Amino acid sequence: MILSINEVKNGNLSLGSFVGLNAIIIQLSMPLNFLGTVYREIRQALVDLEALFKIFAQEIEVKEKKNAINLMINKCDITFENVHFFYKSQKPVLNNFSLKISRGENVAIVGQTGSGKSTIGRLLFRFYDPVKGRIMIDGQLLTNVTLKSIQQNIGIVPQDTVLFNDTILHNIQYGNPQASESQIQSAIKSACIDDFINSLPDGYHTIVGERGLKLSGGEKQRIGIARTILKDAPILLLDEATSSLDYTTEKNILSNLKKEKNNSSMIIISHRLSAITDIDKIIFLKSGTIIEEGTHSDLMNAKGEYFNLWKNQEVDDLI
Ligand SMILES: Nc1ncnc2c1ncn2[C@@H]1O[C@H](COP(=O)(O)OP(=O)(O)O)[C@@H](O)[C@H]1O
Ligand SMILES: [Mg+2]
Repeated sequence: MILSINEVKNGNLSLGSFVGLNAIIIQLSMPLNFLGTVYREIRQALVDLEALFKIFAQEIEVKEKKNAINLMINKCDITFENVHFFYKSQKPVLNNFSLKISRGENVAIVGQTGSGKSTIGRLLFRFYDPVKGRIMIDGQLLTNVTLKSIQQNIGIVPQDTVLFNDTILHNIQYGNPQASESQIQSAIKSACIDDFINSLPDGYHTIVGERGLKLSGGEKQRIGIARTILKDAPILLLDEATSSLDYTTEKNILSNLKKEKNNSSMIIISHRLSAITDIDKIIFLKSGTIIEEGTHSDLMNAKGEYFNLWKNQEVDDLI
C-alpha cells in the first residue's frame, strides 16, 4: 500500500486503481487467514478420528452368541446359581453367590462398600459374564439371549445418574421416547420430583447443565428414577438410587414403586437400613458371600451382622 501511495503521488497510478488494489489485498489475505483455521480443524479432526478408531478396536468382553434369541419374560424369575466372579485384578468379588427372586418379589441387598453389591447388578445386565455359575431369567441363561433384549427388560437406576445437558423433560423421556404426556406426569409424581419441577420458572423445560451440574444430588437421582419408571421394565434395579434423599422422600418413592410395579421384580441396593424394613427379603452381603438373609424381623432376631449395623445406624440417626 505504501508503494502504491507513492505511485499515486507521482501521478503514475489513478485513485481508482489504488482502491482496486486495496480490495484485491483484502480478498487475498482473508482466505489465507482462514486457511490457518482450516488447518487446525483438520489436525483436530484427525486426532479425534484416531481416538474413535481406538474405541472401535476395543475388544468387547461380553459376546452375544450367533444364534442368540430374544429373552422372553413370562414370570420374571431371576436366578443366580453358585456365581463366582472377579474383575481383571483376579481378586474374588462374588463367591458362590446364589439368589432366587420370584415374580413381584422385592429383594434388598445390603452390605459394606466393596462387598460386591453393584457387581450383582452389572452381572444381571450382562456387562460381564460370571467366571463360574449361571444367571438365568425365567430359566433362560443370560449367555444364550441377545444383549438388547436383556437391556430392554431391565430398568436400572445406577449409583450415579448420568444426565444429558438438555431439559429435564428430555432426560426423563430418554427412558421411553414414545411415552405420552400423562405417562410422563405419572412417572414424575411417583419419583416425588413434581414439587421441585413445579417450583422452577421453566418447569420441566429447564436445562440441567453439563452432566446435570445445576441440580442437587437428590434431584438428579429422582430424575433418574422417573426415567426408569417411564421405561416400565419388568425387572427393576435400584443401586443406591435414593442415597442422597431424605428419609421420608426415600420411603415415599419406594412405596410408590411397590404399589405401581407390583408385577415387577425389584432389587434394591441400599446402605441405609431404615428404608428397606418392609422389603420381602433382605440379603446381607459380605465379601461377595451372603452371610444373612430373611425379613427385617428375622435378621433382627438373629442378632448378627445386620442387627449390629442397624444398631449403629440407629445411633447415627439420633446424632
Ligand atoms: N471395573 C472394575 N474393575 C476392577 N475391580 C472392580 C471394578 N468394579 C468394582 N471393582 C471391585 O470389586 C469390588 C466390589 O465392587 P462393587 O460391586 O462396586 O461394590 P459395592 O458393594 O460397593 O457396590 C470392590 O472391591 C471394587 O474395588
Ligand atoms: Mg455400589
